[in-house]
Amino acid sequence: MQLLESIREKAKTHNKTIVLPEGIEERTLKAADIILAEGIARIILLGDHKKIVEAAGENRLKAIEGATIIDPGHFEEKEAYAEMLYEIRQHKGLTREEAAGLVEDPLYLATLLIKNGVADGEVAGAMNATGDVLRPAFQIIKTLPGISVVSGAFIMIMGESHWGENGVIVFADCAVHPDPSAKELAEIAVMTARTTGAIAGIEPRVAMLSFSTKGSAKHPMAEKVVEATRLAKEMDSSLLIDGELQADAAIVEAIGKIKAPGSPVAGNANVLIFPNLEVGNIAYKLVQRLAGAGAVGPVLQGMAAPINDLSRGCSVEDIVNLVAITVNQAAE
Ligand code: ACO
Repeated sequence: MQLLESIREKAKTHNKTIVLPEGIEERTLKAADIILAEGIARIILLGDHKKIVEAAGENRLKAIEGATIIDPGHFEEKEAYAEMLYEIRQHKGLTREEAAGLVEDPLYLATLLIKNGVADGEVAGAMNATGDVLRPAFQIIKTLPGISVVSGAFIMIMGESHWGENGVIVFADCAVHPDPSAKELAEIAVMTARTTGAIAGIEPRVAMLSFSTKGSAKHPMAEKVVEATRLAKEMDSSLLIDGELQADAAIVEAIGKIKAPGSPVAGNANVLIFPNLEVGNIAYKLVQRLAGAGAVGPVLQGMAAPINDLSRGCSVEDIVNLVAITVNQAAE
């Protein structure tokens, strides 16, 4: 996959540090080995040193030699980091004792290392559920200025090059925010367009998807998509975006011409924004399985620093690729 190779090559030029909180996980260590050997990023592994060595096994010690290892249970700066966490979350009722306990959780320590400038980004999720990876990120790193919602994009790599942009289509939100309002959907569209340019290197043409095209059905759900399209244009007047569109009108030229004549996007969209997470998550998995598409992501967008979440079924290559994407996001 040419796109992934170019993402990895680009990452090598940035010299960023990525923290991997699941340092005791075998695939993570194998990925760290490749990342360090290829020079994609500098790596911080979190975890009990003995367990990391055990998980690495005799053949995988290079990852351990080349990475910085921090054991959250015996971290010499633990107290300072607990105080930092307390300062950030005391207004939510977090006590000093609770902060001291949370700092020993690798997922919390990872985000604090980013907050403190020690790491540029994080990749986790090989052994933790999405919510557990995201919660500390939301609480500590928070969103970019002007953005209220984090979302997850998938770069879908199709077998046939006539879809999207040479076979690449970006889908969102497929991973994070269950039920976005019109304003939140507009933010998701704008952020996904940015991700498409920055990570996939593609000029975005955004379709706001619905079960209706240009008023063919009258329903509050379709109206939400119309309103989100209007708000997205307000947020970024240079954005090539249209909605509401059905999926066929968005991606099939002949149907786009019939259902949405004159649309700047219909028929050749390369970014598809789904009305909610249910649709987005189901759609990306169906396209991945039924059409045999590559699904790279989720690339989390809207966060003030890049933190990306793996599927627990991820492969070693998935981890390497997501680290490369995280490096490129950090460089943006
Ligand atoms: N963007 C930014 N901040 C958010 C978001 C968001 N999308 N969602 C919640 N937050 C913030 C809240 O504002 C709150 O901040 P505060 O404590 O400073 O006030 C904090 O995060 C916690 O908010 P909760 O509402 O308590 O969040 P909760 O932990 O219940 O839920 C979560 C957040 C875990 C992301 C939830 O929305 C979720 O489970 N989403 C679905 C994730 C998922 O399962 N995806 C599918 C699998 S992934 C895949 O298939 C690739």
